[in-house]
Amino acid sequence: MSGSYIISVTNIFVLLKMESVHSLKLIFLVGLLLFQQCNANETLLQNDKQALLDFIEKLPHLHALNWDKDLPVCKNWTGVACNEDGSRVVSLRLPGVGFQGSIPENTLGKLSALQILSLRANGINGTFPFELLKLKNLSALYLQSNYLTGPLPDDIYVWKYLSIVDLSSNKFNGSIPSSISGLMKLSSLNFANNWLCGEIPNLRLPKLQSLNFSYNNLSGIVPQSLQRFPKSVFVGNSVSLLNYNVSSSPVVSIPPEASSKSKNVSKFSERALLGIIVTASVLGVLGFGFLLLVLCLRGKNEDRFLGKLEKGDMSREKAVSRTQDAANRLSFFEGCNYAFDLEDLLRASAEVLGKGTFGTSYKAILEDASMVVVKRLKDVSVGKKDFEQQMEVVGRIKHENVVALRAYYYSKDEKLMVSDYYIQGSVATMLHGKKGGNKTTLDCPLDWDTRVRIATGAARGIARVHTENGGKFVHGNIKSSNIFLNSEQYGCVSDFGTATIMSPLAHPIARAAGYRAPELTDTRKATQASDVYSFGVFVLELLTAKSPVHTTSGDEVIHLVRWVHSVVREEWTGEVFDVELMKYPNIDEELVEMLQIALSCVVRAPDQRPKMFEVVKLMENLKQDQPMPESGP
Ligand SMILES: *[C@@H]1O[C@H](CO)[C@@H](O)[C@H](O)[C@H]1NC(C)=O
Ligand SMILES: *[C@@H]1O[C@H](CO)[C@@H](O)[C@H](O)[C@H]1NC(C)=O
Repeated sequence: MSGSYIISVTNIFVLLKMESVHSLKLIFLVGLLLFQQCNANETLLQNDKQALLDFIEKLPHLHALNWDKDLPVCKNWTGVACNEDGSRVVSLRLPGVGFQGSIPENTLGKLSALQILSLRANGINGTFPFELLKLKNLSALYLQSNYLTGPLPDDIYVWKYLSIVDLSSNKFNGSIPSSISGLMKLSSLNFANNWLCGEIPNLRLPKLQSLNFSYNNLSGIVPQSLQRFPKSVFVGNSVSLLNYNVSSSPVVSIPPEASSKSKNVSKFSERALLGIIVTASVLGVLGFGFLLLVLCLRGKNEDRFLGKLEKGDMSREKAVSRTQDAANRLSFFEGCNYAFDLEDLLRASAEVLGKGTFGTSYKAILEDASMVVVKRLKDVSVGKKDFEQQMEVVGRIKHENVVALRAYYYSKDEKLMVSDYYIQGSVATMLHGKKGGNKTTLDCPLDWDTRVRIATGAARGIARVHTENGGKFVHGNIKSSNIFLNSEQYGCVSDFGTATIMSPLAHPIARAAGYRAPELTDTRKATQASDVYSFGVFVLELLTAKSPVHTTSGDEVIHLVRWVHSVVREEWTGEVFDVELMKYPNIDEELVEMLQIALSCVVRAPDQRPKMFEVVKLMENLKQDQPMPESGP
């Protein structure tokens, strides 16, 4: 018994030994493969680096670039970005470097993994750099504002991933190549301000969202396929717009990029995850290979991490900017993922979002299709130092219910605040529709749960703002057009802290009418109690769907607070609420409770109003099936 047992154990050992010889061989082979792969990557990056060095050496430029041969390309070189594993250069952005001359041959064309190329606003001349046609992975090309001449390439179709092309403000001539039609991914095409002539070809570009052919020398008629764009994109040509389809709606202003991008990302990460799992299990067995890989990647991983820190957290100190020009500097906050400078902002296509109490807001679409809100402040009454101090406090506040300030800018003539853009628009738009739009046809009226989330979120945001500066910070400009929905559909507040730095004379008190607490005669002297009042008005607005100040059909001016009081006093409480809310069963108690919270915020005496954190608690209790207190309002 015991003998056979021993034998079988030995057998197992023999078997194991044989196995291990096999697996050792396997381990070695895999290790070698990984090592080779790793070396190959190293070579590819070296080639990219050399191509860049050749490029910069052969093309004279006015501003120096910090491209040091001895420093890592991916980490240190201005304008250069690499792929995730740091093996290839995928993006090159060198706007406004002052290049003089034509793009040298056998340089950029070698960056075969390049996806984004921006050489805009330089002095590049010569004909179209045909060299670039070798970049098969190119998805965005920005060559606007240079002195390029001659015809556009006929075989533009080789860029099958091309999504954004901007060749505007050059001197290109010849006709528009019809081969553009093959670019299935093209979403933005700008040839404005050139010398292009001939007829516009019939372009079938299903993904095209933005087009500009203005100010060329084009003739003939606009083909049917492009008549969905506004006439304005063809102005400055001799194109006949007579048969233009007048009913065509303007272009959708939100590029689909954002959503498709995130899809790609999730697809990619699924694949990447799978890759990691497979790799990890292989490596788990094959320790040797892993060791080699670690040895080979170690240096690189460190670089990558640092690179991420640098790019991702735009600034560890508060005011690091991508522009070298100190006078023209945007100050970014920590955690800002946007890669833009003032020049980008000023060049971005902008759309007016609204004229607010303190200035005009624009939506700016940056060249990488990300969107930000730029607020142009007028009548700032404080100097640079005070302005910066205030912005630093504002920018410090990071909270899910507070719209983050990303950057600011101060010069004698221009004061800008840059913050996140919310596609859905403000709560004001959701409640009342777009200004000038048809008020009665809202696409999608807000349901009760959403309104509760908006109010609760906004309350939390304001409560957070109030904790800043030793618990003394004031929002100062609470109204429905300053409240947005975050990704969880809770309210979040924006545009705070500006009231106190504005000159009072330029802003008649009437501007914030309806939201302004009665005790407030000077908007700069806003208090936390006056914030609570404004918030109360906002909640009433949510409940009634009526603007804080509105006129009836008989031109009578109605103040929301007074109106609600009068209705409640007459015990017609039910009449107060938005008819839209009457659709939902079993919310009466919640409605009345919310109304009571709002009314407690808008009492006349400032010291009798609840504190913001108390309001938050009341709102959070709203949905917990608590029995209603019997006392009336
Ligand atoms: C088209 O380009 C022209 C010239 O650069 C510019 O003035 C205009 O604003 C652009 N139009 C659109 C819709 O971008
Ligand atoms: C514009 O086109 C017309 C005819 O197509 C030509 O005669 C004229 O010289 C062109 N103008 C420019 C500035 O190229």
